[in-house]
Amino acid sequence: MSPTARRAVLKGAAFAGAAGLGIVGCSTESKLGHAEVPTPTAPVDLGPAEAVPVGGAKLYREQRLIVHCPAKGEYKAFSAQCTHAGCVLDKVEGTEGNCPCHGSRFDVTSGKALKGPATVPLPEVPVRAEGGKLVAGPGA
Ligand code: FES
Repeated sequence: MSPTARRAVLKGAAFAGAAGLGIVGCSTESKLGHAEVPTPTAPVDLGPAEAVPVGGAKLYREQRLIVHCPAKGEYKAFSAQCTHAGCVLDKVEGTEGNCPCHGSRFDVTSGKALKGPATVPLPEVPVRAEGGKLVAGPGA
């Protein structure tokens, strides 16, 4: 066998690339921006109604609620859990709620998302003042 023929035998063993095999279609849309935010399933006692400033709002971080007081004796409550990925808001400045995780801001008078990444409003939660105390959740 000539040296030339030997080289020819050793060449040409190319492997077919496996690239492209095993790619699975990504069927799940990102849930970011659409966190399922739970709301109270039982009445939640929030303490004295006067703790919420008239024209302002108060964050009840432990209860994951925000209460807004548009006028004396009137109250609106929202979930304080961000609709982006579910973090609990960390503060209310004036009538804007802040999410510490990715910086979303919410209008706490309406629940509306003012700044992303959240786009979905905070869900409203029923609330009532009873004997000077606020109670939020079902039946309120
Ligand atoms: S969880 Fe992402 S901004 Fe609130």
